[in-house]
Amino acid sequence: MSEKDLRVSKIKDGTVIDHISAGYALDVVKILGITGHERRIITIAINIPSKNFIVKDIVKIEGRALNSQEVNRIALVAPHASINIIQNYSVVKKLEVKLPKIIEGIIKCINPSCISNSNEPVTPKFYVKSEDPLNLKCHYCSYILEKSDVLCNFN
Ligand code: CTP
Ligand code: ZN
Repeated sequence: MSEKDLRVSKIKDGTVIDHISAGYALDVVKILGITGHERRIITIAINIPSKNFIVKDIVKIEGRALNSQEVNRIALVAPHASINIIQNYSVVKKLEVKLPKIIEGIIKCINPSCISNSNEPVTPKFYVKSEDPLNLKCHYCSYILEKSDVLCNFN
């Protein structure tokens, strides 16, 4: 790729979340709790031409390596993403995001009457019925959550 074509430059240290399905970069940023007020460089690229996908989204977070919990969160909104940990300009680790079969603690149930939304000390728990499109079933009340529900109900 020539200088003229360079759209997003390589980073020195941090995390590159690549192969995000087109249109989901902002959801990835949201589920990671990134507000834009962090004192680090964050690049959000949407609808980037790619060889495997027709277009893809990319998020680059400089100066921060994501932990496994954060990687699992990404799987909720971008099940085909790959995570690249960058050190001194090289990819030192590549992780595929993977959605566990059971999700505990990250998302709240959308049913206000669910026991997990009461004052009882109950940790929310969901079974992954389908990854793409996302479909989660509450262990306690059997309510079904979709991706849009997840994006407004995570902790
Ligand atoms: N990347 C970066 N800064 C670096 C190294 C890599 O931003 N110092 C980005 C690349 O632009 C790419 C991703 O991290 O979006 C993965 O890099 P690399 O493994 O080199 O690319 P590919 O071989 O194309 O990866 P894949 O096979 O996962 O598509
Ligand atoms: Zn419930």
